[in-house]
Amino acid sequence: MFPKGFYWGTATASYQIEGAWNEDGKGESIWDRFAHTPGKIKNGDTGDVACDSYHRWREDIALMRAMNLNSYRFSMAWPRIQPSGSGAANAKGIDYYSRLVDGLLEARIRPFVTLYHWDLPQALDDAGGWLTRDTADRFAEYVDLMARALGDRVTDWMLFNEPSVFTYSGYLIGEHAPGHKSLVDFLRASHVVNLAQGAGFRALKAARPTARVGTAFNMSACEPATTSEEDKLAAERAHAITNTWFLEPALRGRYPDALAFLPETAMRIQSGDMEKTRVPLDFIGINLYYRTIASAPGTIERVAHAQEWLFPVNMDGGQQGPKTDIGWEVWPKAMYDMVMRITRDYNRPVIEITESGCSYNDGPNASGVIRDSRRIEYHREHLAAVARAMADGADVRGYHAWSLLDNFEWAEGYSQSFGLTYVDFKTQQRTIKDSGRWYAKVAAENWVGAS
Ligand code: FCB
Repeated sequence: MFPKGFYWGTATASYQIEGAWNEDGKGESIWDRFAHTPGKIKNGDTGDVACDSYHRWREDIALMRAMNLNSYRFSMAWPRIQPSGSGAANAKGIDYYSRLVDGLLEARIRPFVTLYHWDLPQALDDAGGWLTRDTADRFAEYVDLMARALGDRVTDWMLFNEPSVFTYSGYLIGEHAPGHKSLVDFLRASHVVNLAQGAGFRALKAARPTARVGTAFNMSACEPATTSEEDKLAAERAHAITNTWFLEPALRGRYPDALAFLPETAMRIQSGDMEKTRVPLDFIGINLYYRTIASAPGTIERVAHAQEWLFPVNMDGGQQGPKTDIGWEVWPKAMYDMVMRITRDYNRPVIEITESGCSYNDGPNASGVIRDSRRIEYHREHLAAVARAMADGADVRGYHAWSLLDNFEWAEGYSQSFGLTYVDFKTQQRTIKDSGRWYAKVAAENWVGAS
């Protein structure tokens, strides 16, 4: 049994579901620009229309009601609020989120808001994006606007979604917007994001002192490939770069030991910065999909590449468990291990599982039913892992399945379906999958049931 009041939710993100990319005064985001650039997204897909949730949010709330959910994690598109990244709020953008929040509260669903799920105003990227410290100040300004506009009704906020993914994929490997491929850019961007996390936290608390504020971190239990000391050290470094690169600066005012040394000058760390990054997050959001296997590269590899010299770790997914359609190994124990490690290392903080889920592209059968039994197994096993961690002392308050709907999966376009609800993208018709029906029962009974 899960405790009374446990939050059963789903998660989505603005660019992945809203569509209406240029309606009601919304400005261009880096994801609009990136998706409109030929060759960046599988099949040339874009989020221009996506699930059309900008217009169909009432239907989406009805789906959540049908699933007996009491929490909805969604994000706000910064360029709907500040089309060019600064200045006064666009009233129509605020109205959209305000109506959504009211609709959720009416349905007795907690609005659980992510302030930044990757859609930076393009105008800010033109001015340097996450490479320039000014963006941290702009972010705090935007957070202040949202806290004032919605903080009378929204109490639980996340500043960022997966800071290490959008800095790594956006600045180091170039697979996400804004598409840079540079180690130095990754390092600089991560420091600016850490400064923004501190500034955003303070702005939110200044406007709404009783708000609960955290971040949704992508996490992955990092295991050494062998029992050698080198691989064990590599696994600790993998843990530091993947799981705590944006958490330690907040909770302890320091960077964790991920790198062979901390390149402070290249990262443009200034004196006094680590006091600015330090903020007592009220909860730690965990997004977890898979584990990581870490090993140490050999000497030749290390001297041949600047990146491996600085970060001497090879990271791979595990190969023992079954794979989902996107190729990620299903390994529920990673959920237990990660929640327990955070519980131990940070003195039993409040944890929210802000995302977990799987891509299986099962569609409707002849009678229109979506029999996605593998998704049911995925969530059942991950929830059992959460329950076990809670029995062992972890303070977990909620679980948010990624995702409410099949949606735009970043560089994969619409080729990967994570939803508890099937979306026919030609008609926008939504059909709750078997997994959604199962989840409804879990939420109503507060219990995962027998398999
Ligand atoms: C996470 C993202 C989310 C979604 C899932 C599958 O990394 O936060 O937007 O794409 O993966």
